[in-house]
Amino acid sequence: MQAQAGVGAAERPWGGHCRRVAALACELGRRLRLSSAELIALEEAALRHHAELAPGAGEAAGPDLSPRAHAVLHSFRHPEHPAGGRPAAILRVAEAFAERVEFLPFQPAALEQIIDEMNWLAQRGVYDPNVTAYLGALVSIRMEDVLATVHRLPVFPAVALRALMISPEEETSLERMESLVSSDQVLAGAVIEAANSSLYNPSRRISTITQALTYIGLEGARRVVLAQVFRPLFACRALGRLWRHAVEAAVKAERLAVLSGAANAQEAFLAGLVHDVGRLALHRLGGAEGERYARLREKGADAVFVELMLCGFDHGVASAEILRSWSFPAHMVEAVEHHHRPEASRSPMAALLHVAEAWSDQAEEEDLPSPRRVQRALKQLGLGAESLRPGAEPEHWLVACLTEAA
Ligand SMILES: [Fe+2]
Ligand SMILES: [Fe+2]
Ligand SMILES: [Fe+2]
Repeated sequence: MQAQAGVGAAERPWGGHCRRVAALACELGRRLRLSSAELIALEEAALRHHAELAPGAGEAAGPDLSPRAHAVLHSFRHPEHPAGGRPAAILRVAEAFAERVEFLPFQPAALEQIIDEMNWLAQRGVYDPNVTAYLGALVSIRMEDVLATVHRLPVFPAVALRALMISPEEETSLERMESLVSSDQVLAGAVIEAANSSLYNPSRRISTITQALTYIGLEGARRVVLAQVFRPLFACRALGRLWRHAVEAAVKAERLAVLSGAANAQEAFLAGLVHDVGRLALHRLGGAEGERYARLREKGADAVFVELMLCGFDHGVASAEILRSWSFPAHMVEAVEHHHRPEASRSPMAALLHVAEAWSDQAEEEDLPSPRRVQRALKQLGLGAESLRPGAEPEHWLVACLTEAA
């Protein structure tokens, strides 16, 4: 994917909202056939549309803006001045649309409702109707397109569900895990590697599956199996980052389940591993739709915003459809479906996944953080914000172990 002209990733200190506005504005600008020079000015003005102007320098006279971007920003702030032309009209629409999407945690609405409102306001002269007309046209990726990519993903392996179903209460649980691990060389190697890792720090080298399982226990083995089973789904360099996030979310979801007692810890770990499998599918979209998705993400807009614009649903909904096709239990499907909108579900695991997501290192890539949503989800779990204190969770050996090689 070729980088767009304009401002590069390393030069984006303006926050998630401005990146959303800039990405949407540029996409609308492309549809409305703006010239390259207009697109560059539009992106520059959009990224700076909340910037303080230099003191005493006068309106739209910030020192870092090109003259074209000045004109766009000036018209954006003062619609009676037409010098900014169509880019300014596009910026007004992109900004208003992004703000309405950002209000969803406070007043949930359907995306079509937001687009209808924008068109209604355009008919009354608030926005340019030629621009708002393209908002609806951006929604071009259907759920069928996303699910079609699932056929190219490996089928969810039965071994993961078998590992999940071994109950610690059973007398023969370790024997059952041993026979499952012994059935696969990679699993056997991973379990032995984990037992020899610095976390367990055995006094002498462990070399058999039986010794390893005795050392790391049933729960340790279960995590190694689940992680190994899912890793091939992310087996390409570009998806390594997504894989690291999945492991981190799994560990944090498990931790929150233990802290809150609101969900089964093993299920929370598995839900964390698969919560973003819909993103994985969207990354594998081909054709013009896939390019548009990649282009908007490359502009720095977060995943949920891009998905709402292009699909009308977020990747939580796509993940849920995929898990349904893998015959996951209904309560886990529901939790994953609502992990970015936990207020739309009564599932405690949805709240738990939302907090794990917000607590993860890559949180801002997925959605703009909403303290209101996190606060509500923590309350549902009976937890306080102190549970998320930095350092509350020591670095998990599994995260270190699995991400080193990614
Ligand atoms: Fe704004
Ligand atoms: Fe997500
Ligand atoms: Fe995530």
